[in-house]
Amino acid sequence: MKITVIGGLNVDIGCVSLNAVRRADSNPARVRMSAGGVGRNIAENLLRLGADTAFISAAGDDGFASFLRERMAVIGLDSSRLIVRRGMSTGLYVLILEPAGELFTAVNDMEAVESITPADLEPFKKTVTASDLAVLDANLLPETLEAAVRIAGGVPLMADAVSAEKAKRLAGILPRLAILKTNRAEAEALAGFPVDTEKNLRECCRILLGAGLGEIHITLGKDGYCCASKDGVFIQPALPVKLMDVNGAGDAYTAGAARHFCAAGREHGTPPGAPHASDAAARGLFGAACAAITSEHPGAVYDELTAEKVRERITSQKNGESNERV
Ligand SMILES: Nc1ncnc2c1ncn2[C@@H]1O[C@H](COP(=O)(O)OP(=O)(O)OP(=O)(O)O)[C@@H](O)[C@H]1O
Ligand SMILES: [Mg+2]
Repeated sequence: MKITVIGGLNVDIGCVSLNAVRRADSNPARVRMSAGGVGRNIAENLLRLGADTAFISAAGDDGFASFLRERMAVIGLDSSRLIVRRGMSTGLYVLILEPAGELFTAVNDMEAVESITPADLEPFKKTVTASDLAVLDANLLPETLEAAVRIAGGVPLMADAVSAEKAKRLAGILPRLAILKTNRAEAEALAGFPVDTEKNLRECCRILLGAGLGEIHITLGKDGYCCASKDGVFIQPALPVKLMDVNGAGDAYTAGAARHFCAAGREHGTPPGAPHASDAAARGLFGAACAAITSEHPGAVYDELTAEKVRERITSQKNGESNERV
């Protein structure tokens, strides 16, 4: 299965202060650098789940870009589709954490990714149209998202809303999306009201499906996830986890749902997006199992994630459930 991801690429610089953070002071800390970006994380997960993955993004020509290219080479993710912006900084996300891991503050510079124009995407038309699914993230500006939709032609599309602030960038392309993945805050930003009760969650799904989406998945952190399509709304608890690092769990969910979307069609001998692929609840479970496994390991992406491990996790979860009923 071929999946193309167009979206965010950045270096994550995580700084864990050794003592309670003091403002306007120099705080001794442990500092680690890793590859990140919602689109990049989704692409790495997809690759690990066995999808033939193309990743389109932009970077500067600085040391951070070299770091990301090296990292992509190690994992086998092709970096030849990165647009190079001379003199611009590669995407950076700097997090400052309290000693216990709680976020003190974070800043991000996504100038390179936001500089991707509709014209920049034209050369990738063949890559996108040869895909079973294209995944977009809301780090792209609205006109670039619209251009991605145009060049995709009839290829099914999925989007990840990235953050409450950026989610609104997707408003114009909702009718063209086969699947949208948001978290609670992103769903609230799109719906325009709090998604804090089951009633509101159902209403939010109804409104967003009414905008023309094929399927919506709203992840709810420790409270699980909600998936909805014309077949109904399914609200599910999170899989039991031995939590280690929740960073990237949502990206793993998106990748899992994307992979399932393509595989479901393939298993039934129908193209992705055909009626057999419309099993939102099964897709949600596959995504949630990817998220559960990812949250039990350090880093935004678990480097030993495989589709087999996800299936095993789902089976043991189902067996556990049936044991409980005995
Ligand atoms: N504390 C937790 N305990 C159990 N499962 C969790 C927890 N946090 C997240 N998950 C699982 O991960 C899924 C996605 O998490 P979340 O809703 O936090 O996504 P997100 O906000 O998009 O995350 P990201 O930081 O990756 O963008 C949840 O639906 C749930 O299945
Ligand atoms: Mg997310």
